[in-house]
Amino acid sequence: MFEESAAEHLYVHVPFCAKKCAYCAFYSEAGSGQLVNRYVDALLRELQLVASDLEPKTIFFGGGTPSLLNLAQWERVLDTIRRLGWNNAAEWTVECNPATVSLDKAKLLRDGGVNRISMGVQSFDDVLLDRLGRVHSREMIFKSFDILRATGFDNVNIDLMFAIPGQSLASWRQTLAEAKALGTEHLSCYEVIYEEDTPLFEQLQAGAIEVDEDLACAMYDELLLAAGDAGFQQYEVANFARQTASALADVPDCACRHNVNYWRGGAFYGLGPSAAGYVRGVRTRNWSNTTKYCEELERGRRAIESAEELSPLARAGEIAAFGLRMTSGWPLEQFQRRTGFDLRQEWKPEIDRMMQLGYGELNQQRFYLTNKGLRFADWVGAEFLRS
Ligand SMILES: C[S@@+](CC[C@H](N)C(=O)[O-])C[C@H]1O[C@@H](n2cnc3c(N)ncnc32)[C@H](O)[C@@H]1O
Ligand code: SF4
Repeated sequence: MFEESAAEHLYVHVPFCAKKCAYCAFYSEAGSGQLVNRYVDALLRELQLVASDLEPKTIFFGGGTPSLLNLAQWERVLDTIRRLGWNNAAEWTVECNPATVSLDKAKLLRDGGVNRISMGVQSFDDVLLDRLGRVHSREMIFKSFDILRATGFDNVNIDLMFAIPGQSLASWRQTLAEAKALGTEHLSCYEVIYEEDTPLFEQLQAGAIEVDEDLACAMYDELLLAAGDAGFQQYEVANFARQTASALADVPDCACRHNVNYWRGGAFYGLGPSAAGYVRGVRTRNWSNTTKYCEELERGRRAIESAEELSPLARAGEIAAFGLRMTSGWPLEQFQRRTGFDLRQEWKPEIDRMMQLGYGELNQQRFYLTNKGLRFADWVGAEFLRS
């Protein structure tokens, strides 16, 4: 069931941000220059440690804010990737914050082999950007996007958020229209999640925010309409991409291949503090502590806090849940090849229930969620988990 060959996907976590956003629970901090340098040293060591078992077709630098690394730090990272022979990866994404994209940095990344940028735009409305605690302004979005295009990036994603406290349907429509006008190849749109231990969560607990479920549903419907109208094909709950060739495919050709591998339950290495990985049936997680991460690598070993091998059924349940987030759902044969289980047989009660609710459809080839089901994909996925 598990690939014996080298892993083909690499995630690198960069745990630094200029300032923490009000809603964000990802592991990141405002690091000093010295800590960032120490992190880069450690990361280069970790890359060397896994190199013999990795031939990446996709690389994803996420965070945190990878674009916060300075030119000298990026030069060192790019140089190591080049020496490992990975700079021609078919898809190499770097996440950027619009406040930290300079012409020199964009050029350095593009020349180094990075061919996809994911930019955390969140909203085109300055008031909402402020509400979210973002460091960038509306103006910086356009400036950064122009820089990316001028330096040859022809595969750009923007992240947007909806159901932001204080956001009206009209403001969301306006943001979607501006996203369309920007003309990116990819769009990721996330409904706000109130994560524990964030200022937004505290405001919710204190009664300062009212959640309007109906408005959130209306915004999601609006998103589906606007994205389709702008020529995007939805391929996952929150992800939309352009289809440049005419052939109908399971995923549009501008889809993020790296993330498709996650949703299909494939293997990947995860490096950097807090990063998760999954190789040969073993799920690992690195320490969510940058100093501890650096110390471990300075001792010459990986900074793995936990490693766990799930039972085949538990893993299959997880894989079912991930894959159902995709509009194409699970091709039954592919699921069986990947997990060894027959989706229709093992999850019959769940499949029947989802069909009764109008959340799922089953045919000879696949089981997939309807638009209504995709809206509640987190809940549906949880129903497929097995201990
Ligand atoms: C890991 S962040 C990295 C992007 C980059 N650090 C930035 O924010 O510019 C990826 C995306 O997740 C989304 N996100 C993060 N926290 C979220 C939350 N609590 N609710 C909804 N979306 C969230 C945001 O759209 C963000 O751009
Ligand atoms: S959303 Fe992005 S920029 Fe904001 S704190 Fe999280 S990782 Fe950092």
